[in-house]
Amino acid sequence: MSRTFAIIKPDAVERSLAGRIISRIESEGLRIVALKRIYMTRKQAEGFYAEHRERPFFGSLTDYMCSGPCYVAVLEGDNAQPRWREIMGATNPADADKGTIRKELAVDPEKNSVHGSDSEDSASREISYFFADIEIA
Ligand code: RTP
Ligand code: MG
Repeated sequence: MSRTFAIIKPDAVERSLAGRIISRIESEGLRIVALKRIYMTRKQAEGFYAEHRERPFFGSLTDYMCSGPCYVAVLEGDNAQPRWREIMGATNPADADKGTIRKELAVDPEKNSVHGSDSEDSASREISYFFADIEIA
């Protein structure tokens, strides 16, 4: 049993797709052990995506992440971290496999509807970036 961190990004929330994505998470056998709706501040977005600070898309990415509310969540299950990445699909929806969330729902390589931690270490760091232990049940 392990945990990973997920975001339902602003493009999906704006199009009222959060319920559908939550339903997909549950139908895949992952448990949502923490969930909250937040309006990310620029500072939070910049800290969260700090690894991409030098990338050309950093300004646009952080603008987008604070362009509207999103849902942050902690998912639990067998191999939660790689499983959630698999369910999400590739970063660019054009490259994502059929049946993945990004293939079905994403708008473009930036507005790609969901986030998932890319390793176990990232998962621990990202969970504690947004949640206190007491919020996870
Ligand atoms: P994420 O961290 O959000 O789960 O996405 P990821 O691992 O699949 O992709 P990553 O390389 O970490 O990129 C983080 C987010 O930045 C935006 N992006 N835009 N315009 C572009 O070429 C571009 N490339 C990446 C996406 O929102 C991506 O999810
Ligand atoms: Mg990433």
